[in-house]
Amino acid sequence: MFSFDQLAKQFSDKFNTRHFPEAPGSLYHPAEYFLSMGGKRVRPVMCLMGNELFDVIQPDAWHAANAVELFHNFTLIHDDIMDKAPLRRGKPTVHVKYSEPTALLAGDVMIVRAYEYLGRIGMAHLPQIMRLFNTTAREVCEGQQLDMDFESRAEVSFEEYLHMITLKTSVLLAASLQMGAIIGGSGTGNQEHLYAFGKNLGIAFQLQDDYLDAFGDPEKFGKQPGGDIMANKKTFLTIQVSKVATPAQKKELLDLMKEDTPDKINRVLQIYTDCKADQWVRDLKDRYLSLALQRLESIAVTGSRKTPLRQLASFLIQRQS
Ligand code: IPE
Ligand code: IPE
Ligand code: MG
Ligand code: MG
Ligand code: MG
Repeated sequence: MFSFDQLAKQFSDKFNTRHFPEAPGSLYHPAEYFLSMGGKRVRPVMCLMGNELFDVIQPDAWHAANAVELFHNFTLIHDDIMDKAPLRRGKPTVHVKYSEPTALLAGDVMIVRAYEYLGRIGMAHLPQIMRLFNTTAREVCEGQQLDMDFESRAEVSFEEYLHMITLKTSVLLAASLQMGAIIGGSGTGNQEHLYAFGKNLGIAFQLQDDYLDAFGDPEKFGKQPGGDIMANKKTFLTIQVSKVATPAQKKELLDLMKEDTPDKINRVLQIYTDCKADQWVRDLKDRYLSLALQRLESIAVTGSRKTPLRQLASFLIQRQS
């Protein structure tokens, strides 16, 4: 059994090569530029771990891993346009370095490439994996639209927020694990438990993402600090604060939503810390982590085979980048 670091290295050694032809460079250089910035490679590693939970890693799992990482990078390029984000992985985003139309196409060509890798999967598993991949891709689009719809709303409930982050983030982590499990020959009951493990872990992962966007160390984080605040994103922080804020704080937050000044971030952060919202993340993450671990326990394989997934879970919710 391999650890997260070992699988991330094995994956990167294979993946860090050209995925696109030379010409036209105006399209493919931006695409390669983005892929060369790295990232944690969480989803492909989850795909490989999902396979290894049940059997030695099969060639099909590498094709599926390539596909999920390319799909993820496609979502990030488009997400950065939607979120007007200038920085990603410590470097200028594609639409800033090149242009918005080029970033749209670089993302488009990346999802096409993802399907080409999927097409290499053997017929024994292809139909089931294609169905799962397509359902997941559609859900990510739905989650991304809800995320944007919520920007213009004054309040969003915790349930609505949970639904949105499940779609935009969790389902891809869950599906990556399940694709690996399918390739590893798992039965449907175990697949369902593994998917649910990934879904709850994915929620904890997005809670940490929201926390880091507001309170992360800009050196490690790699994205523009306070980007969610500037874009009026609804995060667990905005939801928790709205439960305990005084009427004056609530009014200030509503007024700040209409502002676009550099001062906005610090003023919102001040209200978050006055409401102690930054301290809630630990409890919330723990809640979803324990839901995830319960489902991991239910999977009918020897306990020691689950060690890499347990380590993955604690790495993901403590991450600083
Ligand atoms: C960022 O995902 C997008 C979210 C769903 C929060 P990652 O944090 O996995 O991004 P990289 O690939 O490591 O840069
Ligand atoms: C991203 O959510 C989800 C997808 C890219 C599908 P965020 O917008 O919070 O991700 P970051 O913070 O830009 O990585
Ligand atoms: Mg974003
Ligand atoms: Mg976004
Ligand atoms: Mg974020």
